[in-house]
Amino acid sequence: MANIEINLIENRKPVPATDELGFGVHFSDHMLVMDYNLDQGWHGARIEPYGPIQIDPSMMALHYGQAIFEGMKAFRASDGNINLFRARDHFNRFNNSARRVCIPELDVEELLTGLKKLLEIDQQWVPSEHGTALYIRPFIFATDQFLGVRPSHTYKLMIILSPVGAYYAEGFNPVKIMVEDEYVRAVRGGIGAIKTPGNYAASLLAAVKAQKKGFTQVLWLDALELKWLEEVGTMNIMVKIGDEVITPPLNGSILPGITRDSTIKILQNWNIPLIEKQISINEVMQAGSDGTLKEMFGTGTAAIISPVGSIHYKEDNVIINSGNVGELSQKLFEEITAIQYGSKDDTYNWIDTIDVV
Ligand code: COI
Repeated sequence: MANIEINLIENRKPVPATDELGFGVHFSDHMLVMDYNLDQGWHGARIEPYGPIQIDPSMMALHYGQAIFEGMKAFRASDGNINLFRARDHFNRFNNSARRVCIPELDVEELLTGLKKLLEIDQQWVPSEHGTALYIRPFIFATDQFLGVRPSHTYKLMIILSPVGAYYAEGFNPVKIMVEDEYVRAVRGGIGAIKTPGNYAASLLAAVKAQKKGFTQVLWLDALELKWLEEVGTMNIMVKIGDEVITPPLNGSILPGITRDSTIKILQNWNIPLIEKQISINEVMQAGSDGTLKEMFGTGTAAIISPVGSIHYKEDNVIINSGNVGELSQKLFEEITAIQYGSKDDTYNWIDTIDVV
């Protein structure tokens, strides 16, 4: 991406006020675009004004879902610069997703160069208040005009930017979770371990069902036995029982979350016992009733750490930590955000800084 063609917007849009941000509703002035075809490979990197694109009704991604995406964040540091969080890891995962659905991979360093250029151009879209960030959404979709089922020969990559506040209406307050015991999110050997739209489509019905019953999100169980914890909503799940933090292993149907990985590394650094192992919903409910279930939280890019205040499974309800934010959830949230906003040294080497001019 040595040569990125740049076509700037004539009239920049006003940047929304912090209290109007929400999540994923506002978009910055520009977007990064690239195309793929069999002759040229990935080519034609350009930054252009954000706006609608023309697509053909027979475009393959619309019919067979050959598409992938990522979600990462940039934060406004107290010195005014922009901190991009674990971008390489996100782009590496993007390539893993690409491989699984036969999309040609991209050069991670080139993607990073393009993203940094886009962030430089749209730097005023990175909000500065604590709790806000610029959400970065890279995505690729199959663009062949064809109705047969095969990998497309052409693709489009786009990166769009959205200034965001909290992902859940609850903010950092504990969420109410319903354990889903009918629908499943993903199966081993399927596509659950990658970020592809089908996984999110598969999650909608259960999420709507849970919301109708007054819950914020769904706790997913494994597809085979409907027994083992998998994920919560769009996040990885961690459970603190006694002094141990347990999280399901990356078994092929769970997304390898970057925030999951950050949390594991921080816990290891703090010498807090962290075990990656299968844990059943019965063990969790039992720990809830005998008082050993101390905390439960989701980890994800959008919500960072999302404490779980209660879980409902079949006829049983368990309240966790009296419905309050747990001590460890709070500490983890503070540690991760301190690194993201630059108030704490980045000893893990997770930040790329973009100097603002
Ligand atoms: C994340 O938190 O990483 C997500 O995937 C949420 C996104 C789908 C909005």
